[in-house]
Parts: sequence; structure tokens; C-alpha cells
Amino acid sequence: MDEGVLEEVQDFWNRIASDWQTQVGDDGDKNRLLNSDPVLWDFAGDVGGRDVLDAGCGTGYLSRKLSECGARVVGVDLSENMIGIAKEMSPELDFRVESVTGLRSLEDDRFDLVIANYVLMDVPFLEETIDAFYRVPVLRSDGVAVVIFSHPCFPQGRRAEGPGRLVSYSWDEPYFERHKVVEPAWGHFTSDFIWFHRPLSDYWRAFTASGFSVERFEEPRIASDRYHLAASSRELERSRTRPYSVAFRLMK
Ligand SMILES: C[S@@+](CC[C@H](N)C(=O)[O-])C[C@H]1O[C@@H](n2cnc3c(N)ncnc32)[C@H](O)[C@@H]1O
Repeated sequence: MDEGVLEEVQDFWNRIASDWQTQVGDDGDKNRLLNSDPVLWDFAGDVGGRDVLDAGCGTGYLSRKLSECGARVVGVDLSENMIGIAKEMSPELDFRVESVTGLRSLEDDRFDLVIANYVLMDVPFLEETIDAFYRVPVLRSDGVAVVIFSHPCFPQGRRAEGPGRLVSYSWDEPYFERHKVVEPAWGHFTSDFIWFHRPLSDYWRAFTASGFSVERFEEPRIASDRYHLAASSRELERSRTRPYSVAFRLMK
């Protein structure tokens, strides 16, 4: 994939930075709140007093929550506009414009935990990104990475609802081939989305090839103690029955 694609990704996220803030607000969007954040916090463990990298932090809702839990957080994002909003909202936190593919500005930092919350499907260079997470100047030798990303097997943008519980998923390209996806804007978003499809096994291979071992794996879905947070029975049913994401806890 040519290097220009990183600029394309950066332009895209710069364009929709304020739309993104509308999407996640202070607490994360509905999918995070209902389905994946509990898994994220479970996989992260007690972050109090830990050095945590929020890799691809967006407008920083998770960095703020990590900091409230006592973590020393650095949030990095490729998009200057995302980081601009994050800094405006929390000037006391350490937010930096940086690509997760290199993380070269972090050579003087050491982290106990790297979190990439819905980021890996958005990076064009998967292997380089995982290598950067694993690298000694970033992650301590007993460090952990928690990565959550959109479920590659069930493309939400290619979903059709049938009668009753029937849901059909379709692919424009063969599942096993990596490809860039351009998806029409939805909801309040003002631009088409760009992301990068690869099969689940490619992610697993990238984690282990860089040296991580996969310690835990989940397909997050709503737990009964969060049912009351669903805005409707339809939203609850979707959270109970649909695979939106995958979550990995990786050990160095
Ligand atoms: C789906 S958003 C998730 C943001 C945040 N983690 C959250 O959960 O709200 C993906 C983020 O990844 C960032 N991103 C994409 N490619 C990146 C890269 N190569 N380096 C750093 N950030 C990147 C985007 O700018 C965007 O903020």
C-alpha cells in the first residue's frame, strides 16, 4: 500500500473530527457503552498508577476516563483536528499528534498498557502498527496491549435487516482479500468513511508475529447489568444478538 494512503486517512479523520465528537461525546457511543467498554475495562484491569497509551485516541473520551481511574495517560492520534478537540476538552492531559504506525515521538516513554479502541481497522499498515506497540521503547517488557476493533467477519455497513431476527451480511470483495473500503456517510456524518478490511486470521497472525501472545479474546455483547442502558427493546435485541466488534488482550 502506498505511503500517500496515510495522508488520505489523516485528511478523512480531520474532516470528520467534530462529527466524531458528536458520535462519542463524553462517554463513548452506544456500541462502546453497551457492548465493548465493559470488556475493555475487564481486559485493561486496574489502571491506577499505570502508564497507559491511548493509541488512536480520537477526541479523548477514553483517555479522560483512564485518567479519572488514576492512570498516567498519553493519547496519540494521526488527526490534528481530533487532538485539537481532545486538548480543548482536557488541556491537562497529554495529547499528541502522532501515527500509531511509528510512535517515534514516544521513545522516551514507557507504557504498561497500550489500548487501541476501534483503531486497527482504520490503519492501512497493520503489521507496522502492531510492531510499534510491541517495541521496547513503547511497551515495557511485561506490558499488555488491549485492542478492540470492528468485527471483520460481519461488515455493519453491508447489513440488511430481514423479517424477525433475520440479518444478512454481504461483502463487495472476497472476505480473505485485504482491501480498502469506502463506505457512504451515515447518520450525522458528513463524509464517506475509509477503512481497511482484512480477515480475522491476519490480525491474529500480526499479533503473534510481532511477539505478542493472545491471552484473551472476546466478541463483546451486552451483559444483563447493562440492559437498562439500551434506549429501546430493538437496541437491546441488537446488542444481544449482533457481533459488532472483537477484543483481544495481548501479552508481551
Ligand atoms: C474510530 S476512531 C476511534 C477513536 C477513539 N479510539 C474512540 O474510541 O473514540 C479511529 C481513530 O483512529 C485514528 N487513526 C487512524 N489511523 C491512525 C494512525 N495511523 N495513527 C494514529 N491514529 C490513527 C483516527 O484519527 C481516529 O481518531
